[in-house]
Amino acid sequence: MKYLYLLGYPLGHSISPAMQNAALRERKIRATRYVKNPMPPEKMREMILALRAPHCLGANVTVPHKQAIMPHLDELTDLAREIGAVNTILKRADANGIAKLVGDNTDAYGFLQALRVRKIRPQNACVAIIGAGGAAAAAAYALAQEGAREIILLNRTLARSVELADRLNRRFPALALAINDWDALERMHLIINATSVGMAPKPDESPLPAKYTIPRSAVVFDLVYNPPATKFLREAQARGARVIGGLEMLVYQGARAFELWTGQRAPVRVMRDAASKVLQDMQTLFARELAPSQVKR
Ligand code: ATR
Repeated sequence: MKYLYLLGYPLGHSISPAMQNAALRERKIRATRYVKNPMPPEKMREMILALRAPHCLGANVTVPHKQAIMPHLDELTDLAREIGAVNTILKRADANGIAKLVGDNTDAYGFLQALRVRKIRPQNACVAIIGAGGAAAAAAYALAQEGAREIILLNRTLARSVELADRLNRRFPALALAINDWDALERMHLIINATSVGMAPKPDESPLPAKYTIPRSAVVFDLVYNPPATKFLREAQARGARVIGGLEMLVYQGARAFELWTGQRAPVRVMRDAASKVLQDMQTLFARELAPSQVKR
């Protein structure tokens, strides 16, 4: 049996195993499984050993290892280095046939593809990104690469926005950048939530401070996929804005990773169906877990 790992901690309910195993079945890639491999940060050495084992074909990396794992890999793609985060690890044989661990990033592709399938073009767009972590960096690089005109970074921790803005500025000198200018929201074409605010188990939170509203002409993209309709998206939709949920980015980043690992075209529809099904089951489970405490005595 060969394995693809999901490395993260904690992993709890994750959608990727159902999505990737459905794709492996669909493409008849036998004796290969995508499995959760929960490893705390102090187990970095074990993680690298697990990746180097011959039965491991590659991995996805999630919170909290996306940045921490980078110095332990043999190579990084230019994209992973520029974004400053790895979400996919490939194994590539060098000239001597020795397998090297290559850190890549498919979040940027997943993000762009979710826009592309809706015919939303980032060229010349003015974009606000709430957040300044790995997901925000992937979205910002993807947008800058595609010719966005302006990016405004809105993040709780100022130092992180400054650091990301500095890197973007060096790489894309023509891009207009601003930090924490919430008043500019009203003229943005695209507004993205790249924080974890609003994610289960706290679906009643929104990353948007109460005094600001979403312009109705904006496209609003929440990278959170659980719940599918976050408070942020529901409010944006009520204002008349067009909304995109995080499931699409999850599916397309996974599709890209699948293609890199297997060399086969990803069965995107099968992956989306499997991901939606797990997400639905999770909503049911979540509702049941909530129910007892909501009963008034
Ligand atoms: P990811 O790889 O998913 O982007 P991350 O790098 O840990 O994960 O980034 C998480 C993002 O969510 C950050 O922008 C974080 O803000 P800080 O830089 O201030 O930590 C943001 N975030 C998480 N919880 C938040 C909260 N309660 N309020 C505001 N921002 C929050």
